[in-house]
Amino acid sequence: MRLLEREREREMRKKKQLGKYVWDVKHMVESIFIMFLIMGALATIAYYYVNIDHDQPHPAAVFKFYTPNPNTTSAYESLDGCDLFSGKWVHDNHSYPLYKDLDCPYIFGDFACGQYGRMDSNYQQWRWQPHGCTLPRNQWVSMVCMLQTVIPLGRKKMQKVPNVSMLTFKALEYNVSIDFYWAPLLVESNGDHPTKHKTNDRIVRIKSIEHHAKNWVNVDVLVFNSYLWWRTPALKILNGSSEDSKQYNIVDNHRGYRMVMKTWSDWLYTHINHTRTQSYFISMTATHHRGVEWGSKSDENCLNETEPITKDDFWESGSDLKMFKILESSLNKLKAKGVKVQLINITQLTQYRKDAHPSIYRLHYSPLTNTQLSNPSSYADCTHWCLPGVPDVWNELLLTYILRKHK
Ligand SMILES: *[C@@H]1O[C@H](CO)[C@@H](O)[C@H](O)[C@H]1NC(C)=O
Ligand SMILES: *[C@@H]1O[C@H](CO)[C@@H](O)[C@H](O)[C@H]1NC(C)=O
Ligand SMILES: *[C@@H]1O[C@H](CO)[C@@H](O)[C@H](O)[C@H]1NC(C)=O
Ligand SMILES: *[C@@H]1O[C@H](CO)[C@@H](O)[C@H](O)[C@H]1NC(C)=O
Ligand SMILES: *[C@@H]1O[C@H](CO)[C@@H](O)[C@H](O)[C@H]1NC(C)=O
Ligand SMILES: *[C@@H]1O[C@H](CO)[C@@H](O)[C@H](O)[C@H]1NC(C)=O
Ligand SMILES: *[C@@H]1O[C@H](CO)[C@@H](O)[C@H](O)[C@H]1NC(C)=O
Ligand SMILES: *[C@@H]1O[C@H](CO)[C@@H](O)[C@H](O)[C@H]1NC(C)=O
Repeated sequence: MRLLEREREREMRKKKQLGKYVWDVKHMVESIFIMFLIMGALATIAYYYVNIDHDQPHPAAVFKFYTPNPNTTSAYESLDGCDLFSGKWVHDNHSYPLYKDLDCPYIFGDFACGQYGRMDSNYQQWRWQPHGCTLPRNQWVSMVCMLQTVIPLGRKKMQKVPNVSMLTFKALEYNVSIDFYWAPLLVESNGDHPTKHKTNDRIVRIKSIEHHAKNWVNVDVLVFNSYLWWRTPALKILNGSSEDSKQYNIVDNHRGYRMVMKTWSDWLYTHINHTRTQSYFISMTATHHRGVEWGSKSDENCLNETEPITKDDFWESGSDLKMFKILESSLNKLKAKGVKVQLINITQLTQYRKDAHPSIYRLHYSPLTNTQLSNPSSYADCTHWCLPGVPDVWNELLLTYILRKHK
């Protein structure tokens, strides 16, 4: 009961603080200091980086820190041929966390583990170490530090774009913005409202992407992700723009995903200027609901876990490899047509991190029942990720690719 009260109290306090940002509390998070640092809602984002003014030329902004140092170039060249996604987690409390949660005003809701009572911090102190090469981290950390200092209060703002499921963070003096666009199934669906949506009973307009995608053009970097919302056995699909929701077919999630990936690929192929825009797709992330898979008791999950799994190639059974294959095959087809979408393959590296989920330390959108409270593991969130934490590493990887392109 005490936990519940504390939670409510915190919620009230947060609500006051957040004011106009309440809109997105549920699914969105961004860090101010590093453009790319935080990926936000783990599974449901089309997240991208865009020039504030679409008519402006390419904003050199972030990248201009890098070009003057010739050693930067060689650091990125040395990555050629290295698989950044195969490696292990190394404890490194010297360099991590990269920032403190209290320093970032945009961490809340599902991700704000520290604010919601998680006391241990070991989970924040792990570096991803690819086999065979090292991420050029010094430059990256220095970028973090520089951005932190060059974007003082008043030179940055976060705002919701009217009428569009989009939040935009702007670093004013660099003419850079980083937008977060909510379209969990990529095409139009009954989940499009950022907060007022059902979490079951998906209805998807299988070919209708334009309504969302028109907001994704003329940007420098596009980062897509769509996985979690497909984790449903079946969904209803509507043809074209038919308003009649009685005329639907029911398909299984894999078939639906394949159809939508086709719609998405066709759109990307025809509407994006690939000379200007770099495109990325973030692969699915692991969940940790079944303790028995890593040697805990069968009724245990990520709750109370404080160390990563060290077993090589650990794979938890909730990860839907079939969906990964569909994604991979869509990207391969695009590649065959000359369109490169870089896969940020974080699936395996998240498999190990049973320790890094919010578990019970997060905002709960509806009050917990006494039954739940008497059995905390029943409401532990083993799907999202705490911040600071694992998503910071996704952004290090993403940034590594972005900077390589600009070397
Ligand atoms: C680049 O690396 C070389 C050799 O490691 C070093 O001597 C030089 O000072 C470095 N230059 C810069 C600008 O860091
Ligand atoms: C993703 O990375 C893992 C670990 O390196 C690797 O086993 C897997 O084949 C990769 N998948 C793709 C599609 O690149
Ligand atoms: C960092 O971790 C080491 C063990 O890995 C420990 O001895 C040391 O006290 C830690 N330092 C801090 C600042 O937590
Ligand atoms: C905002 O959306 C509503 C409902 O979709 C629409 O009626 C209205 O015209 C839109 N306003 C603008 C400025 O686009
Ligand atoms: C940002 O855009 C404004 C207006 O177009 C321009 O005057 C300014 O020089 C730009 N700043 C940077 C850092 O590119
Ligand atoms: C959608 O329309 C196409 C062509 O009009 C038709 O072949 C297909 O069966 C329809 N699918 C659904 C789900 O209504
Ligand atoms: C695509 O982008 C490049 C680089 O910004 C530009 O030079 C070119 O004109 C663009 N092509 C079209 C068709 O807009
Ligand atoms: C988690 O830890 C708390 C306190 O350390 C303990 O009371 C509880 O039984 C643990 N729960 C599980 C599922 O291990």
